[in-house]
Amino acid sequence: MIDQLNAQFGLGDQLVFGLGPGDLPLVEIMNEAAMAVLSLHGGHVLAYQPLGQKPVLWVSKLARFQHGEAIRGGIPVIWPWFGAHPTDSGRPSHGFARRSLWRVRGATAVSPAETQLRLGLQDNEETRLLWPHAFDLDLTVTVGAALHLSLRTQNKGPEAFTFTSALHSYFTVSTVTAVSIAGLEDAAYIDQLAGMARRRQSGAVQISSEVDNVYVNTEAACRLIDPYWQRTIAIHKQGSRSTVVWNPWRDKAQRMADFGDDEYRQMVCIETANAAENEIRLAPGDTHEMQLKIFVEKEEET
Ligand code: BG6
Repeated sequence: MIDQLNAQFGLGDQLVFGLGPGDLPLVEIMNEAAMAVLSLHGGHVLAYQPLGQKPVLWVSKLARFQHGEAIRGGIPVIWPWFGAHPTDSGRPSHGFARRSLWRVRGATAVSPAETQLRLGLQDNEETRLLWPHAFDLDLTVTVGAALHLSLRTQNKGPEAFTFTSALHSYFTVSTVTAVSIAGLEDAAYIDQLAGMARRRQSGAVQISSEVDNVYVNTEAACRLIDPYWQRTIAIHKQGSRSTVVWNPWRDKAQRMADFGDDEYRQMVCIETANAAENEIRLAPGDTHEMQLKIFVEKEEET
């Protein structure tokens, strides 16, 4: 399979397929501006590092790399439901896209400093047991001075469907208590740790305990400001009206088999989403696109 992928889609040193932990097929991208690693299992970006910068994404040292499992870290694709299934908690948390094997649809060297990979996922017997709809998902990942993801959902069935989703980005930070997240000032949010209480954000988001907030009706870009690393990560989005901020803190981390007890200090999730009342309804044949662009701001911009 790997040889065939390299023969069909490989781009010399710029994009190479290989096998990673758990024998999962990986894609390694390296160009003049950045490097990235993706997993075909999950259509999942595992690493992104612009040249001369620290890694941008966080992956747990205890992450599981197994067919059918979700990988803890990077950018899992959450689809077609965010969080627990709305009526059946026996179905997998955060949907099935992050646990499915995606197909490669194309790879392009846009320039020596920009590489693009297109992945796809369609309904099959297994997905229809979990979610009875025909769909086409198309994920385009562009790796360069910025990391750009575009997730297109098309309804291929005869009836309308609704879905929630997220590009569940895990960012690596120097110390979570030192960072702040700008862009959500005054946004309304659902506090998932307080019985889904509705609250309003005051000032920048700062984290000093477990947090699980779904900010709704916000299309704002966010900035993750890390004073110790003197780095600001910009997170821009389109086609997304929710932003989720999550950090499990110590107790929840201890309860998760794929999350080191102290790792919560070095990460924060800022998720580009359409969740809760921002769910998307798609008529037959219609398409919805959600986009995420992540880049490290240049010093003069911070
Ligand atoms: C976040 C949710 O998006 O993902 C949290 O808001 C959840 O409630 C977290 O705990 C991790 O989910 P999972 O299924 O990857 O453990």
